[in-house]
Amino acid sequence: MAAADIGIIVSLCKRRGFIFPASEIYGGLGSTWDYGPLGVELKNNVKRAWWKAVVYDRDDIEGMDGAILMNRLVWKYSGHEATFSDPLVDCRECKGRFRADKTYELDCPRYKRKVAACSANLTEPRAFNLMFKTQVGPVEEDAALAYLRPETAQSIFVNFKNIVDSRWRKIPFGIAQIGKAFRNEIVPGNFTFRTREFEQMEIEFFCKPGTDADWHAHWIEERHNWYLRYGIRAENLRRYVQQPEELAHYARACTDLQYRFFPEREDEEKQWDELEGIANRTDYDLSVHSKGKHDKWQVHNEHSTQSLVYRDPVTNEKYFPYVIEPSAGADRATLAFLMDAYSEKPGPDGEPRVVLKLHPALAPIKVAVLPLARNKSELVEKAKAIKADLQRHGIRAVYDDTAAIGKLYARQDEIGTPFCVTVDYDTLGIGKTKDGAKEEDAPASPTGLLDTVTVRDRDTWEQVRVPIAGLRDFLADRLGTV
Ligand code: GAP
Repeated sequence: MAAADIGIIVSLCKRRGFIFPASEIYGGLGSTWDYGPLGVELKNNVKRAWWKAVVYDRDDIEGMDGAILMNRLVWKYSGHEATFSDPLVDCRECKGRFRADKTYELDCPRYKRKVAACSANLTEPRAFNLMFKTQVGPVEEDAALAYLRPETAQSIFVNFKNIVDSRWRKIPFGIAQIGKAFRNEIVPGNFTFRTREFEQMEIEFFCKPGTDADWHAHWIEERHNWYLRYGIRAENLRRYVQQPEELAHYARACTDLQYRFFPEREDEEKQWDELEGIANRTDYDLSVHSKGKHDKWQVHNEHSTQSLVYRDPVTNEKYFPYVIEPSAGADRATLAFLMDAYSEKPGPDGEPRVVLKLHPALAPIKVAVLPLARNKSELVEKAKAIKADLQRHGIRAVYDDTAAIGKLYARQDEIGTPFCVTVDYDTLGIGKTKDGAKEEDAPASPTGLLDTVTVRDRDTWEQVRVPIAGLRDFLADRLGTV
């Protein structure tokens, strides 16, 4: 089944507090987005699920968190200063600027046609460097120039030796990092798919030359399975093997995991775009950041103070490790999980209801605790106590009494909450009062319902009665751990 298209998700995100246009009250700032109360929880859960899979569940990865601002020389020797650019064309008529390789897809802002049809007005393509410039310190001079990092990878490479030495690591092992990256994209767009500020989740996995093809295959499999495990349907995820002419000059191979981000496009091939790239970067990175001459890469590093060559502690063999790099976007992954979770089904009134079938580990809220009536203090107190107990034991729970129960269920379905717990009169041991009768005349509730609650499942809408004493275990079993 195709996922919902991005337009539907944009509207849900705004309506329910996942993602808002940034600086909206001042007219926004091209393709910048703020994560709201539910968005921040969802994205944090995506990042946590990634960190768990790659750092905690394995024994061969260390984590780190590097600075966004780095010495400019990092970007000189990584090659970004010279080559991290997209081809740009200007239109002499409308003064617009466009990516030269996208003119057949982009609409001309002046005429009803694609930019390519304006070819007579377009300048020759020129390289436009995507790195944002800034200045460190109060003096505006060339020496103070710095860049906002365009990828998190480089701080891993320049810390390779620190981590080997401080953590007694031997090859093969990897380093994982999650953090912001910035690119002055010529044509950002499609919601959070392409933005100028985004978050990456990157692993640099260091291995012995000759073992790199096997590790590359391993990581393609691992990363593919991770998306499936957290709810992406197999038919919406595919592998795309980059052709030799598409590879970066230092890469031996690269397989992209593509998601069906654009199901509404007629041409099936155009429905897919990159979610994550898994590259074999060879020994390029550790070589070019090492002091000295590296003929293989035509680099002479006169500034680095160290050699990042690895010495095998058993054989004493020295080599620059090869790097396998699974590089994912946290925002793109969050968007894909949202798109794939979106579903609609008829509600009790026959109207379509949105149900966001997020994996429990990703759901922003795991349990909503609802009193059947907000004007009955015993119901309210009991519901609040249950909420507090769940939260104290690490289950993200909310209390809500702001609408009638049917509406509260619908709201929780729409934001992907796996379970609703309802505290009703039976919980208090009070049976149904006949219309017009006084509450104290109510009959006792059916035997066995005292101190029980109903638990409603988001996906099936089935309700079961569960003793409060066993509620935490009941929910924890079904939610699993992140
Ligand atoms: N270190 C390798 C690297 O940065 P990349 O393919 O340029 O590789 C990796 O980026 C991932 O980062 C992409 O697969 C995508 O998920 C995400 N990404 C890249 N540019 C992005 C942008 N402008 N907006 C949102 N996510 C982006």
